Amino acid sequence: MEITVEKVLDALRYVDDPDLKKDLVTLNMIRDVAVDGKNIAFTVVLTTPACPMKDMIHNACMNAILHFVDKEAKVKINMTSNVTSKKEKDETTLRDVKNIIAVASGKGGVGKSTIAANLALGLVRQGAKVGLVDADIYGPSQHIMFGVTSDAPGNAVFEGQKKMAPVESYGVKINSVGFMAGPNQVIALRGPMASKALSQLFFDTVWGELDYLIVDLPPGTGDIQISLCSSVPLTGAVIVCTPQDVALADARKGIALFQLEQINVPILGLVENMAWFTPAELPENKYYIFGKDGVKHLAEELNLPLLAQVPLVQSVREASDAGRPAVMQESTTSSDCFIEMAQNIAQQVAIKNASVTLV
Ligand SMILES: Nc1ncnc2c1ncn2[C@@H]1O[C@H](COP(=O)(O)OP(=O)(O)O)[C@@H](O)[C@H]1O
Ligand SMILES: [Mg+2]
Repeated sequence: MEITVEKVLDALRYVDDPDLKKDLVTLNMIRDVAVDGKNIAFTVVLTTPACPMKDMIHNACMNAILHFVDKEAKVKINMTSNVTSKKEKDETTLRDVKNIIAVASGKGGVGKSTIAANLALGLVRQGAKVGLVDADIYGPSQHIMFGVTSDAPGNAVFEGQKKMAPVESYGVKINSVGFMAGPNQVIALRGPMASKALSQLFFDTVWGELDYLIVDLPPGTGDIQISLCSSVPLTGAVIVCTPQDVALADARKGIALFQLEQINVPILGLVENMAWFTPAELPENKYYIFGKDGVKHLAEELNLPLLAQVPLVQSVREASDAGRPAVMQESTTSSDCFIEMAQNIAQQVAIKNASVTLV
């Protein structure tokens, strides 16, 4: 029996993407099928780089071909990825940015900036193109976490207009008011001016092509959050919270803001930060100093994904202060945790994008 491209595609219709719950052919994830005698080659285009299911999908494709087409086929599968987007076309500096993800919380000090930095770098470590806006206009911290306190955005031109070139650190393109104010300078901006400064960070920066632009938000549910939601096409929001009651109460408010009818930004899920404390000398011990599983329970109650439970460990704080976030370390408990968090968030983005385009 002769092997044909059609037979290959028919076999691959038996393989579902476990997240998107449709088969790979329907999802248009199979490309460049080539058949030559018993040699079969094709490309699988995943929706996130280093998808956690990559090996599983590869093996499922292999089995489908051997089972349904020819058990003696020689199969070569090229696994690649192309991050999806549901953003509408625009002519701003964000036009080649596929997904914009806000990292938010109701309360300050819960670790938003830490999570945003490690998320951005976790995505880079998986091969994605990533940018970061420090939207905490009054208390920027990303320039410190990325070790670029003495840098400043360069000059760039976009459509004949003068713009800023973002600062780059560890492969992440960053812009922040932190680059414009000295360390002892207070940033005194009233509401409308703060919103304008925020808008400049997005629209006066030449971002180029990005898979993900991460936005580190200030705490609360005020001007900055509302003007961000109305002026920037957000893909979704990640809510960071500690398991403590006062933080949970504020997180509910943060979530409610994004879910308001006139705002309507999808919640990608919750990150429980400082889920437990683990001292360096007792790495097996967990102390639930802010309470246990508070965010996990909130996620269950609101039917939202729990994206990660990140422990409170001294090295995470030290890494941020030293300008080299913890996710950059090789296989420590916290770097593994941040990588997994980044994968889960990329996965949720892919699911949100698919649920809109594939009805
Ligand atoms: N998982 C963690 N382990 C250790 N320290 C952390 C962790 N998350 C945050 N921190 C520290 O807690 C403080 C507040 O975190 P930050 O990210 O600045 O919070 P936010 O942006 O929400 O105000 C910082 O000193 C940070 O280094
Ligand atoms: Mg912060």
